[in-house]
Amino acid sequence: MLYESVVQPWLFRLDAERAHEEVSGALALLASIPGGAHALAALTGASETGWVTALGREFFGLRFPNPVGLAAGFDKDGRLVPILPALGFGFLEIGSVTLEPQPGNPKPRLFRIPESHALLNRMGFNSEGARAVARRLASQEKCKVPLGINLGLNKDTPPAQAPSAYARTFRILAAHGDYFVVNVSSPNTPGLRDLQKTAELAAILQEIQAANAAQKPVLIKLSPDQAPEDFDAAVAVADKFAQGLVVSNTTIAREGVDASWAAQAGGVSGAPLKDRADACLRRARARTKLPLIGVGGIASAEDARQRLDAGADLVQLYTGLVYGGPRAVREILIGLAREAPLFNGR
Ligand SMILES: Cc1cc2nc3c(=O)[nH]c(=O)nc-3n(C[C@H](O)[C@H](O)[C@H](O)COP(=O)(O)O)c2cc1C
Repeated sequence: MLYESVVQPWLFRLDAERAHEEVSGALALLASIPGGAHALAALTGASETGWVTALGREFFGLRFPNPVGLAAGFDKDGRLVPILPALGFGFLEIGSVTLEPQPGNPKPRLFRIPESHALLNRMGFNSEGARAVARRLASQEKCKVPLGINLGLNKDTPPAQAPSAYARTFRILAAHGDYFVVNVSSPNTPGLRDLQKTAELAAILQEIQAANAAQKPVLIKLSPDQAPEDFDAAVAVADKFAQGLVVSNTTIAREGVDASWAAQAGGVSGAPLKDRADACLRRARARTKLPLIGVGGIASAEDARQRLDAGADLVQLYTGLVYGGPRAVREILIGLAREAPLFNGR
């Protein structure tokens, strides 16, 4: 198809972040044209997946038309909310959004590793900030699928102020999201992952929940690189103070990628993360009944099915979209629907 033969080779010749900007720009342009979302859904085949009713499910009192969502990081500032459901996603997660605007790390900070079907990024929470994102979401039509907002932390926020910073970010955005995710697992903000420790994490969640008058579901996103006992402790905090978990973020491990990447700072996503994220998901499932969103290395229906079988209630992808293109979600949905017990026979 045109995408594989022309568009992707062109994009892959560009610097990875530049390619992302081109794709985002094209999607934003389509979103601004009346009928643009419909045209995209027809082009990607996503409009044909409306019949996959057997894949719909309900969590946190929200109706998910299908279990395949967009992972955080693709649409950090919520610019593409009106158009992304046209790729077939059953839910979106925007962000990470920080309280104050910040530029993130110096470029280059996003790299493709095509031979491993992986990405390495050290974006460092480039964000327009919570107020700008809230204004944008308020001015847009309501998202057609459940919308998650992932909360990050400014680089210069001292750890002691993390609970109040997360709570303030949450308060600014609370009216605009259906669920929220506390990101304490990006490897690209120094010290952030230390906030996964029991006392620190509990303090953050308690302060957010105190501000959570509307009772929005709040989830915690975990790293796949923790020692098992630390991971378990974080799951226990979620059990007590949160409504779910996102497992997992990128890894600082370099398994499955060429040794030349060892010296590059950042988190690896995509195929090399798959088994690690899968194992973390299983570990979490064995320890909590909370809804779990499985993410990391999902690129096909088989990958998604495996993560759902491991105990995920919903799944997400980012890197799989970069390598699979605009029809990736549709392919996953059709594959999943073939096996769904209630598949309606098409
Ligand atoms: C370029 C890039 C930026 C990301 N930014 C964020 C982010 O801001 N917040 C977050 O929670 N996760 C972020 N992630 C992590 C993804 O949400 C996801 O957890 C990870 O990439 C594993 O999924 P994948 O293998 O499907 O990409 C980012 C990932 C990539 C590749």
